[in-house]
Amino acid sequence: MIRLLTEKDANQYQKIRLQSLKTDPEAFLSTFESESKLPLEYFQHKIRNAEKDPTFGYYGLFESSRLIAYAQISDGYLAKKKHVAYFYEVYVDPDFRKKGYATQLINFLIDKVRKYKEIEQIELKVNSRNKSAIALYEKLGFKRIAQLPHAVKEPDGTYQDEFIYSFSLKNFH
Ligand SMILES: CC(C)(COP(=O)(O)OP(=O)(O)OC[C@H]1O[C@@H](n2cnc3c(N)ncnc32)[C@H](O)[C@@H]1OP(=O)(O)O)[C@@H](O)C(=O)NCCC(=O)NCCS
Repeated sequence: MIRLLTEKDANQYQKIRLQSLKTDPEAFLSTFESESKLPLEYFQHKIRNAEKDPTFGYYGLFESSRLIAYAQISDGYLAKKKHVAYFYEVYVDPDFRKKGYATQLINFLIDKVRKYKEIEQIELKVNSRNKSAIALYEKLGFKRIAQLPHAVKEPDGTYQDEFIYSFSLKNFH
């Protein structure tokens, strides 16, 4: 079952978010060290602030009542960016990978966004070394449209590039 997360899910969200920063530090722009110090209220605010009409927020995929995968749909809140939605924080618990859950989740999110004519494309960024995520997005029809050199600086001082991927709901490309 996939549904919008609410503040009531903050405990599970905090747990899976911190887990993601531990299991896949290169996939995300934050660090376990910085977020593990933050109180539950921070994660509650994050969920609450992300939830916006018509369809924006954090979505969780649950098996029984356990949150095993999640991602965020965010809006391009400025006037000239209203036609773009952004996907962030795509994550599947390692115990549940390679079973099609990310495919299910991303397709669900694309279908959500597709309902709103105002939204014409989806954008996301991925670390250029993240082979599994790149394969996932390309399989689902996202197109690589740009490379951002030295976009990420790791705590050890090394740089990595990011790719921007776009999914057109209007056949722009
Ligand atoms: C990337 C990620 C979300 C994939 O989740 P998943 O549930 O295992 O993905 P799926 O089972 O739906 O796989 C769909 C496709 O993704 C690609 N893929 C997934 N895991 C892969 C791997 N380990 N190696 C190569 N390709 C992979 C394949 O194309 C796969 O299709 P296939 O099974 O027909 O080969 C998951 O590995 C993850 O959470 N990684 C860490 C966090 C992350 O990188 N998030 C993305 C940030 S931009």
